[in-house]
Amino acid sequence: MSTDDRQYDLVVWGATGFAGRLTAEYLTERYGPSTLSLALGGRDPDRLDSVAADLAARSEWDDLPTVVGDATEPESLGDIARSTRVVCTTVGPYTRYGTPLVEACVEAGTDYCDLTGEVNWMRETIDRYHDEAVEAGARIVHGCGFDSVPADIGTLLVQSHALDAFDAPCESVRIYVDDASGGVSGGTLSSMAEVFEAASTDPLARETLRNPYSLAPAGERDGVDAGAGPWPQKDRLRGVWTAPSPMAQVNERVVRRSNALLGYPWGREFRCSEVVTTGRGAEGAVTAALLTGGLGLFTAAMTVAPLRSAIRRHVFPDPGEGPSRDRIENGHFTVRVVGRGTAREGSFTVEAEFGTDLDPGYGAAARMLGESAVCLVRGDVDSSLDGGVLTPASGIGMPLVERLRDAGFTAAVSDTETPPGDAGADHG
Ligand SMILES: NC(=O)c1ccc[n+]([C@@H]2O[C@H](COP(=O)([O-])OP(=O)(O)OC[C@H]3O[C@@H](n4cnc5c(N)ncnc54)[C@H](OP(=O)(O)O)[C@@H]3O)[C@@H](O)[C@H]2O)c1
Repeated sequence: MSTDDRQYDLVVWGATGFAGRLTAEYLTERYGPSTLSLALGGRDPDRLDSVAADLAARSEWDDLPTVVGDATEPESLGDIARSTRVVCTTVGPYTRYGTPLVEACVEAGTDYCDLTGEVNWMRETIDRYHDEAVEAGARIVHGCGFDSVPADIGTLLVQSHALDAFDAPCESVRIYVDDASGGVSGGTLSSMAEVFEAASTDPLARETLRNPYSLAPAGERDGVDAGAGPWPQKDRLRGVWTAPSPMAQVNERVVRRSNALLGYPWGREFRCSEVVTTGRGAEGAVTAALLTGGLGLFTAAMTVAPLRSAIRRHVFPDPGEGPSRDRIENGHFTVRVVGRGTAREGSFTVEAEFGTDLDPGYGAAARMLGESAVCLVRGDVDSSLDGGVLTPASGIGMPLVERLRDAGFTAAVSDTETPPGDAGADHG
């Protein structure tokens, strides 16, 4: 279905929210009205006008159009989806508000990207809309923020390099969150709580969280890879201690889905795992134990319904609240992806470093989502999949790396060969 005659290139849906406003701000600073036909979307016309006026005053935009709808009124979402070539959405929790917009985009053949890390909801949209989205030629790309761009695109970077340099993929990759400093918003915490809520009531959500291959296509939901595991580990390859990553549950599954959607270029026995690096020696071991214990306690508390609602009410910030501008601008993150493979000449290691000097979940996520959307608008995608419920690596691919480099991200890749006879250390 051609979308060339649409009124807008891109609607930022949720522009009055914390992450949506940052995304709209980034796009209006980076792109002018002569290169991008942009509209801001939301449910409250007055607040939307005020965001539009504020962003126009800080940029070269004289006027920013707005579109009004409500996630609970599907007809309004149909109108929005038919008015634009791409929608990028930050209206979450997606489990609660996301499905009607995906449906509207699939029906209108409109490309779509979001910031979701709600793995239960991704499974729902895969099962309900993947085939229809393929048919309609609508790219529905989940996980275009801190979950899961660094892990998924970092893995693509490593594997593309391995295939170019060694004519073989890495059999395993480990994703290390080496460093991350930033804050968290009410919307993100509320979305996290929604996953625990779903797991307590919905058997499919529980199965999705249990099965490492739950986001793979139907009929391909098993395999050899169990992921990182919920305990501290001494990483043999790098000699550092690691703790479980709170994002592993989503990122590992997204990377496995990428491999499957791309037709298994990394092999059916490909393994991936994500961990948080805590350092070397006794200090690294103690930090890993403390982080593991903290994550375990938080998970246990969020599993108990009365504790979960007390934490939501009394501890989490309200929706719309988030880290200060100072914190966003002074945040940073580095994610390192290390792959191990075997070529005819011997074994090899490929390493990618991906990061930037901005808070990962907000300043950086706004750029990752904004640039994903611009890739879709421009058709700047390196993928044979022109429809379906996709991942950043399978739905957009390497052009996103180039755009993020231009936007100030580091995305570097290098390799080392292990001398013949030396099998080399594995991750651990
Ligand atoms: N993966 C990542 O890196 C990452 C980073 C940041 C955020 N996120 C995710 O992004 C989502 C948003 O986070 P946030 O902090 O921006 O949350 P937020 O500030 O609460 O924003 C939520 C947005 O949803 C809108 N909304 C709520 N109900 C609606 C409805 N019925 N119809 C239309 N719009 C509705 C809100 O509109 P009003 O302004 O009118 O209330 C607001 O614009 C969350 O799911 C979060 O987990 C992910």
